[in-house]
Amino acid sequence: MPGILYQMIIYPIIYIWPAYVANGAPVIFGRGKRLPLDFNKKLWGKPIFGVHKTVRGLVAGLLAGLLMAGIESLFIPYMLIVGIALVIGTHAGDLLGSFIKRRIGHEEGAKLFLLDQYPFLILALLFALPFGSMPGAYGIIFLFILTGILHPLTNLAAHRLRIKKVPW
Ligand code: CTP
Ligand code: MG
Repeated sequence: MPGILYQMIIYPIIYIWPAYVANGAPVIFGRGKRLPLDFNKKLWGKPIFGVHKTVRGLVAGLLAGLLMAGIESLFIPYMLIVGIALVIGTHAGDLLGSFIKRRIGHEEGAKLFLLDQYPFLILALLFALPFGSMPGAYGIIFLFILTGILHPLTNLAAHRLRIKKVPW
């Protein structure tokens, strides 16, 4: 029983932790008037990523995620390389999500089911896949459910703490 608990819940959380931190840190460090990653450039009349994707948010997210990977690697050595891949994948996915939102005409911060929650998780997992040691199928399913629950809850908390404008 504890083996199953570890494989399906505890290990998946340990594994994805650098990605979660990389995704959450920009909410704290990227707010305010910051230099946007797309330098306010447009594509087909709409922002490439939009003003919510900032250089500072990206750097803070990468550094915070890498710090987690570094700490985890003290106990699980392969989590350094896996963590690096997760953290880069997280931000590639986050930017891809915003890129798609802008292309279909959604403004920065507008709510969009699925595209708000999952691109970072999917690309983080895809980037880390070549490095092995990924949780099994049930563990991955658990991470999709967990992310679907945590994403709105953490955003609501950030809104209540006045570090995020909208509650989603
Ligand atoms: N953030 C940032 N830089 C990044 C990513 C995020 O500064 N590279 C900050 C922004 O303050 C952003 C917040 O983190 O508002 C939450 O990120 P997210 O929910 O991914 O962005 P949205 O505000 O929903 O914008 P979008 O519509 O582009 O997804
Ligand atoms: Mg959002």
